[in-house]
Parts: sequence; C-alpha cells; structure tokens
Amino acid sequence: MALYFPKHITEYKLAKDLFTRGKDIIVSSEIQELKGYTQHGTTSVFEHCVSVAKFSLLFAYAIERRFPGFEIDKTSLVRGALLHDYFLYDWHESDPSHRLHGFTHPGTALRNAEKDFELNEIERDIICKHMFPLTIVPPRFRESVIVCLADKWCALCETFKIDVSAYLIYRVNYHLALENGDLTIRHGRDEVEQIPA
Ligand SMILES: [Fe+2]
Ligand SMILES: [Fe+2]
Repeated sequence: MALYFPKHITEYKLAKDLFTRGKDIIVSSEIQELKGYTQHGTTSVFEHCVSVAKFSLLFAYAIERRFPGFEIDKTSLVRGALLHDYFLYDWHESDPSHRLHGFTHPGTALRNAEKDFELNEIERDIICKHMFPLTIVPPRFRESVIVCLADKWCALCETFKIDVSAYLIYRVNYHLALENGDLTIRHGRDEVEQIPA
C-alpha cells in the first residue's frame, strides 16, 4: 500500500498554505522569539517548528489522497505543529531545570501557548503529546499522531544536517516580511536580509 506525496504540491504552495493557516501565530512577536533558540544542530526552534508544520501538512495531503474521506483538520494541524515546541528557553544551556527537558517541555510549551494564543482541543493534544512514546500518554487525535511522526522525522534530518525545509522556511519568512510591510526578512536574531524593492 503506497503512500506518495502529491506532485502538484510544491514548496512554494506549501509555504503559502502554511502561512495562511498559521498566520496569527507566525506574525506574533512571541513566536519570533523562537528564532533566537537552537533546537537541533544549527536549526533554530522557529525553523524546526515550521519544518514540522510543513511535513505534517505534506503527510496530511498524502493520507487524504490515499484514503478519500479520511479528513484531517489541517489548520489545527499547522497551528499545533507551529506551537509544539513553544517552551521559550535554550535547552542546551546547563541548568538543573533543563535536565528533564525531553519529558517536561511539552507541558511547558502548552502552558506558554495557552497564555499567548487561543487553542482548540486538537491543538492542545498535538502540543502535549508530541513526545510520545517518551511521554507515555498516547496522542488522542489523528492530527497529533501526524505531528508526532513529522517531529521525529525533522529531528532526525536536523541532527544529521540534512536540509529538507530551507526553501520553505525562506518563503514563510518572505510572507512574514511582506505582511509586516518592512521588506526585511529576519532569519534569526541577528541575521536579516532585505527584499529587493
Ligand atoms: Fe519537542
Ligand atoms: Fe519538535
């Protein structure tokens, strides 16, 4: 039983889809803070979350295509994926409170996300179950299972420095710059690029 990615969905279209579905989160100044924290290798937490949202969307389109009638709430999927690591600290810094990061950060991310955004039940489940099976309670929704798998795939690629989302991340930052109207793409805390007028 083959599951293949629809060829007509390009990185360009995915970036637009992702930005539209997660716009309120991506344009918030709070989520931009994630550009200042490293997740795996040289990937920031922001880039990781966008990459997980991309693969979650891709998996969702592939599943819906393979199993017509099996619907996935793609907006909750993207919003949950964007916020799944919203823990807002550098887990590489040696600090006693970071020792159990793998187990505790889904709860921290959920508390932060609930403070800053309005979440539905699916989005809350995506965030707090994404580390399954490390955290023992399994995902409750199909969307949470998809993000859980996409997260592991992205973590693997980032750890081995396999670039799978650079163009899409660039496009998301491009949409953000256009939305802000300042034509400045902010890749990281200090790394900025001007969009040619
Ligand atoms: Fe995580
Ligand atoms: Fe993650």
